[in-house]
Amino acid sequence: PEIGCLSIIVLGASGDLAKKKTFPALFHLYCQGFLPPNEIKYVSGSYDAAEGFQMLDKEISKHETSKNSLEGSSRRLFYLALPPSLILGGWTRIVVEKPFGRDLGSAEELSSQIGELFDEPQIYRIDHYLGKELVQNLLVLRFANRFFLPLWNRDNIDNVQIVFREDFGTEGRGGYFDEYGIIRDIIQNHLLQVLCLVAMEKPVSLKPERIRDEKVKVLQSVLPIKDEEVVLGQYEGYRDDPTVPDHSNTPTFATVILRIHNERWEGVPFILKAGKALNSRKAEIRVQFKDVPGDIFKCKKQGRNEFVIRLQPSEAMYMKLMVKQPGLEMSTVQSELDLSYRQRYQGVTIPEAYERLILDTIRGDQQHFVRRDELKAAWEIFTPLLHRIDNGEMKPIPYQAGSRGPAEADELLEKAGYVQTHGYIWIPPTL
Ligand code: BG6
Repeated sequence: PEIGCLSIIVLGASGDLAKKKTFPALFHLYCQGFLPPNEIKYVSGSYDAAEGFQMLDKEISKHETSKNSLEGSSRRLFYLALPPSLILGGWTRIVVEKPFGRDLGSAEELSSQIGELFDEPQIYRIDHYLGKELVQNLLVLRFANRFFLPLWNRDNIDNVQIVFREDFGTEGRGGYFDEYGIIRDIIQNHLLQVLCLVAMEKPVSLKPERIRDEKVKVLQSVLPIKDEEVVLGQYEGYRDDPTVPDHSNTPTFATVILRIHNERWEGVPFILKAGKALNSRKAEIRVQFKDVPGDIFKCKKQGRNEFVIRLQPSEAMYMKLMVKQPGLEMSTVQSELDLSYRQRYQGVTIPEAYERLILDTIRGDQQHFVRRDELKAAWEIFTPLLHRIDNGEMKPIPYQAGSRGPAEADELLEKAGYVQTHGYIWIPPTL
């Protein structure tokens, strides 16, 4: 026989079902010797106040101690005979953190397992980049401004860079990191999510499902990655970390070019670049426009128009453009239109990404969370490349910690058409 005192707690004991069915059934079982011979207790309270439940808890404990049951060995059966409005009025949601698997197969398996327990509207796959102020701003920027509408395409844009740089290594989390690498840690999720928002078509409405539909379409239009459009790096000293294997092949840096096969983006390289232990810490989107045709000023060398969205630090958007050098000469100089948040929105606190996203989960807004089909499409893009790295078929190039990363990455950028402006540096305005 099972040990421990048995308590059957019927919630909704004053209702019709309890009277007509539950209690008669319990009584019959009792008569046949299946239930212990104790008196019945009735505790009344309301569903939306704590006191009733506290009283109930006290009664159950009293019952259990009176039966001298061993601590922790109680058997409690809760029978919820409650009106549906009480149960249906509530909700259960789960927030799931990355890594969502390590490749297409494992991610799909994970999704199926979670899917058996929860429905998609209950599942909040978090990617904290979607909670960043300037990432959330992308939709407004692109679809609420006449400026960008006619320019945002292959006719005007030469290349797009989405860059993540960190000026520290994997200190303290080498064990986790070595299992995953920079592509799984940053590119397949954070940078790819940003790419979706930069490249997607206008959703038919702001409903979370409609936005996510458009993101999925972009991901499904990405062509297979070519080996020659990938540069991997590993900083020197990475393997000194005692939690990292001596012969680790894990990249801590990667530049990968994605090509979107659709009417808007055919031929425009989307360069995703991420690295640890580099010379600076920042995340930004850099949209570089094509040269002006028929350049009468001969100012091509001075640099192209660029629209830069600085996600962090010093949130800003700035547009690099050519102006007349002030003065008597008719010469040109590159300058910028600058919207720096700290200066423009003084006294406004930009919420932390997680803060915002957790609030969304309470409010039930899934717009900034990753849907299952989105996740699948994201893994489809990177899985072949990841498997080649895992199998040692592609090797990271060593780079010095605190540098720009492997020189080969800059060469790839140049080959893809990116023209670096020399001499011009945007300086975040100080107050
Ligand atoms: C995490 C990665 O998802 O993002 C870390 O696992 C990385 O490796 C971090 O450092 C960066 O987040 P943020 O918000 O500081 O750019």
